[in-house]
Amino acid sequence: MNKLVDFESVLSLIDKSISPTYLSPTQEIVLREVWNGKTYSEMACQHNYDPEYIKGVGSNLWQTLSRTFDKQINKSNFVPFMRQKVASLFDEKYSQPESNQIEIATANIQEKHQYLHWTTAPTTKFFQGRVTEINTLQRWSEDPDCRCIIVSGMVGCGKTTLVTEFARKVQDQYNYVFWFSLLETPSLPKLISNYLNIFNQSSEQSSKLEEAPETWELSFLLWEFINCLKQHKVLLVLDGLQSILGRNNSSTYKKCYEEYGWFLRSIISTNHQSLLIATSRLRPKVLEYYSDNQVKMLDLKGFSIDDTKAVINSSNSKPVREEGLLFLSESLQNIPQLLNIVKNHLDDFRDVLDDDQNQVLQDLSLLGAVGELLEQELSYLSDLDREIIYWLAISCSAISLNELTGYTEQSQPKIKFTHSVNFLVKRSLVIKQDHRYSLMPILKAYIRRKLVKQAIQEINS
Ligand SMILES: Nc1ncnc2c1ncn2[C@@H]1O[C@H](COP(=O)(O)OP(=O)(O)OP(=O)(O)O)[C@@H](O)[C@H]1O
Ligand SMILES: [Mg+2]
Repeated sequence: MNKLVDFESVLSLIDKSISPTYLSPTQEIVLREVWNGKTYSEMACQHNYDPEYIKGVGSNLWQTLSRTFDKQINKSNFVPFMRQKVASLFDEKYSQPESNQIEIATANIQEKHQYLHWTTAPTTKFFQGRVTEINTLQRWSEDPDCRCIIVSGMVGCGKTTLVTEFARKVQDQYNYVFWFSLLETPSLPKLISNYLNIFNQSSEQSSKLEEAPETWELSFLLWEFINCLKQHKVLLVLDGLQSILGRNNSSTYKKCYEEYGWFLRSIISTNHQSLLIATSRLRPKVLEYYSDNQVKMLDLKGFSIDDTKAVINSSNSKPVREEGLLFLSESLQNIPQLLNIVKNHLDDFRDVLDDDQNQVLQDLSLLGAVGELLEQELSYLSDLDREIIYWLAISCSAISLNELTGYTEQSQPKIKFTHSVNFLVKRSLVIKQDHRYSLMPILKAYIRRKLVKQAIQEINS
C-alpha cells in the first residue's frame, strides 16, 4: 500500500487538515525535500537558503503538524507517519458498504467502456443559452420509444452547435458517442464500415469481427451495425443530413444516396437502446411517415433576445444601447451566425446605430458574409417559397395573408401557399405579427438591392 502513497496525496491531506491556514512556499519545499530524504543543509544549498533559516522553518512546521494531527511529529518520523495516515484513509475509502463498492465498480466499467469519437465536432466552449432546447432534447432522448431526433432550421441558426453541446452534456449516459459529418457525403457502406471498425477495435470479446470492408454486402453491414446498437448504448450524431437529401424537395434522397433511406429506416424501426440525433438545413420529409414517438423534430430558431444581447455585448468594446440591440435582434432574427458576422463589424456602425438604422441595415446587407449566408438559405427554398419572399420584399409594410395570396393565387393552390408561408415563418425568414406578414429585415434589404441591381443590368443590356 505504501507504494501507492505519493507526495502529492500527502500534501493535499496536509493542505486540507491545516485549512483555513495554508503552507508557505518555503514550508512546502521543506516538506517535499524531507519526503525525498534530504537534510536541512542539502535543501538550503539546493534552494539558496540559509541553513539556519530552513531549520527554523522546519521546526515551526513540525509544531504545526503535531498540533494538527495530535501526534508528536518531527523530521525523522514525518515520512512514516504520513505514509500510514494517507494509506489508512485510502483503506477506509475502499472498505465502504457493498452497495457503494458496486457503484464504484459500475462507474469503472462505464468509464472503461466509453468510446467517444468527436471527429470534426466544433468546440462548444463559448456555448450560449438554449436552455429550453437542451431540456427538450434531454426529455426526448430519455423516451425509450424515441430512436431519432432531427434538429432543422435556417442556415447558421446554431443546429450543429446545439446538438454537439447536447451530446457532450449527455455523453456519460452512453457507451459510445459517434459524431460524424455528412457534409462530405460518404457512401453508406463507407459510413457503416467506419462505425463497425470502431466497435470492433474497442471490443474486448475474443470473437472480434474481421476488419469490416466497404465491399461487404450492405445488408450484412447494416445487420452487424444494428446488432451493435442493440448490444451497446450508442449516441449517433450526424451533422448535415441535408447533404443526402434532394434539394428543394426533402421527400427524396439525392441520387446515389437512396440507400440512406434503408439505414434510417433500420435505426428508427428496430428495437435497440441507441439514439440517432441529426442536424439538417431541410426538414426531412422522408422521415414524416414515422410516428412522432419514434422521430422527433425540433425546428430551431434564433437566440432569445437576452442571449442576443449577451453575444453582441460580449466583446470588450463599448456596449450597444438597448434600442440598437432591439433593432439588431429584429433585423437578424437573432440568428447566431448573422450576429457573429455583424458583431465583427460593430465598430464601423456603432455610432450611427441610434440615428440612422435604415442606413445600418443597408450597409449590413452589403457585407459579403451576410450575402453568402442569405444566398445559401435561398438555395434551399422551393420556387413558391422564393416567390412569396420576393412579394414580401417589394411590399412596403406588413401585409395580411389575403393580400399576399392575392399576388400569387393565379399560380398556386391555396393550401400549398399557406403551407409555404407557415414554413417560412418557422424558419424565421418571414415575421408574423398580428396576422400580418413581413420579411426578415436584413433579407428584405438584401433582396431589394438584388432586384435593383438586376433591373439596372437589364436596362443596360
Ligand atoms: N448556442 C450558441 N452559443 C454560442 N455560439 C453559437 C451558438 N449557436 C451557434 N453559435 C455560433 O453561430 C455560428 C453558426 O452555428 P452552427 O454552425 O451551429 O449553425 P448551423 O445551424 O449548424 O449552420 P449550418 O446551417 O451552416 O450547418 C457558429 O459560429 C457558432 O459558434
Ligand atoms: Mg451545421
